[in-house]
Amino acid sequence: MHSKPHVPTESFTSLDFVEQNLSIIPIERSETIPSSWYTRPEMVEIEKQCLFNQQWQYVGHVSQVEKVGDQLIANIAGHPLIVVRGKDNVLRGFHNVCRHRGGPIATENCNSHMLQCKYHGWTYTLDGMLRGVPRFDRAELFDKKDYGLIPVEVDVWDGLVFVRCSSNSTMKLQTILNGISERIAPINLQSKIFYKRVKYELDCNWKVYVDNFLEGYHIPIVHPELAKLLDCQQYVTETFDYYSLQYSPFVSDESIYGKGKGEAYYYFIFPNMMLNILPGRLQTNIILPLSHRRTLVVFDYYYDDITSSEALTKIQNDIEYSENIQQEDIEICEHVQRGLESSVYDKGRFSVEMEEAVYHFHTLLKKTFRNFLDLP
Ligand code: FES
Ligand SMILES: [Fe+2]
Repeated sequence: MHSKPHVPTESFTSLDFVEQNLSIIPIERSETIPSSWYTRPEMVEIEKQCLFNQQWQYVGHVSQVEKVGDQLIANIAGHPLIVVRGKDNVLRGFHNVCRHRGGPIATENCNSHMLQCKYHGWTYTLDGMLRGVPRFDRAELFDKKDYGLIPVEVDVWDGLVFVRCSSNSTMKLQTILNGISERIAPINLQSKIFYKRVKYELDCNWKVYVDNFLEGYHIPIVHPELAKLLDCQQYVTETFDYYSLQYSPFVSDESIYGKGKGEAYYYFIFPNMMLNILPGRLQTNIILPLSHRRTLVVFDYYYDDITSSEALTKIQNDIEYSENIQQEDIEICEHVQRGLESSVYDKGRFSVEMEEAVYHFHTLLKKTFRNFLDLP
């Protein structure tokens, strides 16, 4: 009821460049999505409305909102949000936007017994009702009941907290992630402990980074060190309704993740989240558009143990290792963006063997846009 109505598609100058590229054909014959989807500024607006506002978005871990009054802030594709643990112990989500003149309710993760706007100090209860309005006696036709914080949906899966801005979609978080916990057992994400958040800003469209994550095809060329660690011959891709999985057993005894044992699971959850699961650790990635050619990538690191000195050494190695790979990926993604912007390139083709998950992502995008445009 509170979410803004669907913006009519007439508000876009022309959606021809979307509409003309929605046919879904088998991967063997399919082309990639066109370069215009990575380069046109209006594409981001479409994606905000039909992807980022509609789908569950990861914001953090339950341990960050464990106690009454704990507040966790997030910014999802143009929406400042806040998740709060209420006095009744219920987790609630709101737009982090004061109903007075748009000030922020929280500017950092914190704890307090009520919510106070950081601009003129209006106060709200932890369940979002407007309570204190200083020096407002002479306002007329003003009822505090009409000025509560605007709610968003919140749900928790395996200790990870998600929000959803629009209530148009009824898809349950559990339905989207169905099967993951069973698949990775005995690994249990619930027991992981949050260690640290690292952010990167890239000069490319958010989908360039997602595409790149979704294939191991580039590993031997872009990440020669990683190639030594993974058995690329046994690198497998599986696709499901709303996510895909790439996995690979370790080959090296020198593996920083244990002596040659265990598997790496790389999950992609449509449209913009990754779960990188290795023995003893979870790394979540969130990919958010800042503009059509600028992207924010957020890594959250979780481990089984974050206190013993042995664990801390491992953690340091893990983060350093992943930092190196990330720099290699950033560099190639920024090159690819420039390639996509070149007038000579429009669409490419898929390796059936190595790029099934990229094809799967492109297919889900097309299905979403078809829905959005009310096409069959
Ligand atoms: S904007 Fe929040 S109190 Fe003024
Ligand atoms: Fe990579």
